[in-house]
Amino acid sequence: MPGPVDPPRIVTVADLRRVAKKRLPRAVFDYIDGGADAEVTLRENCRAFDDVVFRPRCAVATPRCDLDTTVLGARLRVPFLLAPVGSSRLFYPRGEEVAARAAGVAGTTYILSTLSGCPLQDVVRASGGPVWYQLYLIGGRDVALGAIARARDAGCAALVVTIDTPVSGLRERDVRNGVKALVSGKPFAMLPHVFQFLAKPRWLAAYFRDGGLMKFPNIVLPDGPMPYADVGAALEQSMVSWNDLRWIREAWRGPIVVKGVHTGDDARRAIDEGAGAIVVSNHGGRQLDGVAASVRMLPEVVAAVRGRAEVLFDGGIRRGSDVVKALCLGARAVLVGRAYAYGLGAAGGAGVTRAIDILRNDIVRTLTLLGVASTAALDASSVDVPADWLRPH
Ligand SMILES: Cc1cc2nc3c(=O)[nH]c(=O)nc-3n(C[C@H](O)[C@H](O)[C@H](O)COP(=O)(O)O)c2cc1C
Repeated sequence: MPGPVDPPRIVTVADLRRVAKKRLPRAVFDYIDGGADAEVTLRENCRAFDDVVFRPRCAVATPRCDLDTTVLGARLRVPFLLAPVGSSRLFYPRGEEVAARAAGVAGTTYILSTLSGCPLQDVVRASGGPVWYQLYLIGGRDVALGAIARARDAGCAALVVTIDTPVSGLRERDVRNGVKALVSGKPFAMLPHVFQFLAKPRWLAAYFRDGGLMKFPNIVLPDGPMPYADVGAALEQSMVSWNDLRWIREAWRGPIVVKGVHTGDDARRAIDEGAGAIVVSNHGGRQLDGVAASVRMLPEVVAAVRGRAEVLFDGGIRRGSDVVKALCLGARAVLVGRAYAYGLGAAGGAGVTRAIDILRNDIVRTLTLLGVASTAALDASSVDVPADWLRPH
């Protein structure tokens, strides 16, 4: 008897998305699924993978495909990490712990967002694998220094500094769903928007069993953990500049990953400021709408970096073949965001594990069909991209 996330019900990440949409209140699903403004970049992130086409070598035996890779010196069993996704605890009880555990079992890294609903120590304990901490400067420098110290003490292996959020992008779906009013705690303001939650009684019961409207336990303000507030408002206080990277580096004294690099110039700047790895990312189309698809920027950034740092990538990955395309274009590994967030929203840990399995199986099949025995052996000779992608800037 197949389980709720097994085939034939769940074959692809798109199937997990469909189940998440059914289980979650509209405001929660749209928070995961939506992007900024007209969502042009959100759509382009996925669509642009269609412009990258494979060039297989046939009649090549690849008896056992090797997916192992190392990222910042740690061995991963799959070439993808779980991206920082704020408020995952809204998708499923103890969401961040649940996702970290699934990542650890799969032999990969979980990246914990500052905007997590679970304390970072609990997440590290649950994980069993490497955990990176993603830093927003919400609450200012002293609050960030406290988080950096706790992340170090808990054993986080790297600090991820996200640089593409000087303000939040306008997530129009969140505005329409009344997110601001819903987190205000004011009953009269909330009233017009609560029916979407009453329509999902199972989610609602699980949410209250998990403690209800939570705080952000990793943002410790002078009077205690920051209360749950509109994520947009929180991001507005989190501008990070290149100057900040200096004190962050001194306080952390470990590997730094700069996330949100869109251009070769910013990649070089990040490395000059001490980044050991960068993530080519437009925040999954949630920030500046109208920037190029993330995969479109990858060749430019890889060329600019010239091997001085590890290049990671995210944005639009819904299939293992997308992962393979990004690796061919020079990414060392990729981050997946919505692909696992849909799984978490659909079925908790089982859904995250299913998302990981779908991607892993896709990657093995794609490598085999390409005639390449390992992800480490992938290079640009296995793909064609439109000529203007390689135009120097
Ligand atoms: C619901 C959601 C919340 C996110 N929260 C954060 C965050 O707190 N910090 C961050 O650096 N990126 C955040 N991101 C961006 C992801 O880390 C990642 O860059 C993006 O999801 C990649 O695109 P994809 O979803 O198409 O895989 C979030 C993305 C989503 C979908």
